[in-house]
Amino acid sequence: MTGILQRNAPFLGKDMLQHWTDVLAVELALNAYDGPKPLRQIVELGTYNGRLSLILLLQAIERQAMFLTVDLRDHVDLDSPAACYLHLRAHYIQGDVFSRPIYDIVRHALRCRPVFLLCDNGNKSREVHTFVPFLTKGDLLGVHDWGSQVVEEDIAPFTHRPAPHIWKECEEIESTMRFWKVVA
Ligand SMILES: C[S@@+](CC[C@H](N)C(=O)[O-])C[C@H]1O[C@@H](n2cnc3c(N)ncnc32)[C@H](O)[C@@H]1O
Repeated sequence: MTGILQRNAPFLGKDMLQHWTDVLAVELALNAYDGPKPLRQIVELGTYNGRLSLILLLQAIERQAMFLTVDLRDHVDLDSPAACYLHLRAHYIQGDVFSRPIYDIVRHALRCRPVFLLCDNGNKSREVHTFVPFLTKGDLLGVHDWGSQVVEEDIAPFTHRPAPHIWKECEEIESTMRFWKVVA
C-alpha cells in the first residue's frame, strides 16, 4: 500500500502521528475484544497534538469506558472546539510517564480493568517493559511502530501472558499497530 494511506493521517485539520490504517486497526482491535467484561479504561501514552486522543476518547465514550492520555510536552490542542466539546482537558495529564507522580497515576488507571493500554510514547520499548507487568488477564495491549520502535524481544519476556490479537488484520491493512490480549 502506498500513497495517502501511508502518510500521517489528517483529522479535524491537524495531522496525527498515525496512518489511517492504524486508526482502523484500533477500531478492529476494540471490536474484536472478547474479554470477560467490556473494557473499562483506555490509556494512551503519548498524546502529541491530541487528535488520536479525540478518536480514543470517542471510542471510550461509545464503549462506556474511561480515558486517560499522558504526554511530557505541552503540545496538545486542548482548546479546539472538538476538544472542548469532549472535555479532552479532563482526560489529559502532562508529565513524564516514567517519573512520579505520573507513573503512579498511570498505574492507578491500569487497575480499572479490563484496560486497553496503547504505548505510543517516545520510548515504546521502555513503556512496554515498565507497564506491561501491571496488565492482567483480559487486558489489551497495543503498540505503534511495531518492528521498528518495539520488537519481538520487548514482548518476549511476557510471551506467557499476552497473546497476539488481530495480527492478521493488522498485516492485511499494513498497519504498524500490534495488539495483544493478556490471556493468563
Ligand atoms: C509518537 S508521539 C504520540 C502520537 C499520538 N499518539 C498520535 O497518534 O498523534 C509521542 C509523544 O510522546 C511524548 N513523550 C515522549 N517521551 C515521553 C515521556 N517520557 N513521558 C510522556 N510523554 C512522552 C512526546 O512528547 C510525543 O508527543
